[in-house]
Amino acid sequence: MHAVELEDVHVHVGGQHIIRGVTLNVPCNSVYVLMGPSGSGKTTLLRVINRLIDMVDGARVSGHVRVLGIDALKADPYALRRRVGMVSQIPNPFPHMTIYDNVAVAARINGVARGKREEGEVVEWALKKAMIWDEVKDRLHEHPHVLSGGQKQRLCLARALAMKAKVLLFDEPTANIDPVNARKLEGAISSLKDDATVIMVTHSPHQAARVADRVALIYEGRVLEEGAAKEVFLNPKDEFTVKFMRGEI
Ligand SMILES: Nc1ncnc2c1ncn2[C@@H]1O[C@H](COP(=O)(O)OP(=O)(O)OP(=O)(O)O)[C@@H](O)[C@H]1O
Ligand SMILES: [Mg+2]
Repeated sequence: MHAVELEDVHVHVGGQHIIRGVTLNVPCNSVYVLMGPSGSGKTTLLRVINRLIDMVDGARVSGHVRVLGIDALKADPYALRRRVGMVSQIPNPFPHMTIYDNVAVAARINGVARGKREEGEVVEWALKKAMIWDEVKDRLHEHPHVLSGGQKQRLCLARALAMKAKVLLFDEPTANIDPVNARKLEGAISSLKDDATVIMVTHSPHQAARVADRVALIYEGRVLEEGAAKEVFLNPKDEFTVKFMRGEI
């Protein structure tokens, strides 16, 4: 069973053809990594999966997108997004809510927590899982503007986790985080596989090698190479993949 299936997906924005026939299947309870150079279409693919692409002016999507067995292009986007959590490349905590509420609101949306006590437990669990609990536990009722960029990103990760969504989309979740915490977060991401399917963008082949079950290399809106992570890393078929792994592109 696949958590997400893309079949011959195309995205046009204005006059540009930015996704050019992408087909890929993401197995349930796995970590699937999208790699590729800047501008290749990774974020756009994530936005197709949770229909944030609807917010892009003039975007047109064709092909088939199934998420948890549902036709994502026909589904109610709000219902879909309750089942598909996302952490964007640029952290976007809700500025007018406290740190606590930023996470609690996600738990409330999906009815994850019944009552205040359970809500507090989910918030603490999510903040711990996102490796930020120690840094915020004494200022849960402050607003997120007091946090650093990397802390905001981990807060957004906690918000996505608190939804207990079955599909999680992470767009470079460790981009603003120091290497020690990045490694810890990778551990946390791997542990999410028990309950969810993770699709993650990273620019780091090393990170991909550590966390991915499968990887796809995206280039100019197409899948250049795709497969089990071990195979792609040990035995890349495409010359471009080899160069990308070596950091030459
Ligand atoms: N709202 C938009 N309007 C027009 N073009 C867009 C829009 N969003 C993205 N694009 C174009 O689509 C292409 C893919 O962008 P996308 O953000 O998906 O790349 P990416 O692989 O995530 O890159 P990066 O690694 O830099 O985040 C780029 O050429 C970009 O300029
Ligand atoms: Mg991107």
